[in-house]
Amino acid sequence: MEDVAGRVLIDHALEASRNAHAPYSRFGVGAALLLEDGTIIPGTNFENASYGLSLCAETVALAAANVAGRLKEVVAIGIVGGVIANGAIEGDTPIYPCGRCRQVLNEAADMGRRDIVVYCASADGAIMRRHLLSELLPHAFGPGDLGIA
Ligand code: THU
Repeated sequence: MEDVAGRVLIDHALEASRNAHAPYSRFGVGAALLLEDGTIIPGTNFENASYGLSLCAETVALAAANVAGRLKEVVAIGIVGGVIANGAIEGDTPIYPCGRCRQVLNEAADMGRRDIVVYCASADGAIMRRHLLSELLPHAFGPGDLGIA
């Protein structure tokens, strides 16, 4: 059965990826967060001439949710990425969040006291996989390890 929420998130992520600032890697990534009330918050990667300062799409979206004071409302994220060609991304491989982004997602999951659904899709839309953050980041380090409830 088609996962409508996942497909909507991936469509928003694809749209966001069109604004990727990725002149160095030429690899565009789009992300879209779904909040409890249906609000969608997009993000895209934001590279820097000082390469190591580059920000991933997922982290940019999560920071925007934080600005809105809504980190604990995140229920799902859609992620898509691929090589930039003619202002759009191309590719047939689903993109998974990097290790740092998994850890940043865990902060939102912990704040909301829930597992977050992670949709990973290929740029051509042919593949979309549904995962839980707990599968992608087992035995996560979190606030509890610091004695913070
Ligand atoms: N990138 C993301 O935006 N998210 C990820 O989870 C993996 C990598 C970006 C960072 C960089 O701008 C480009 O993809 C190539 O690594």
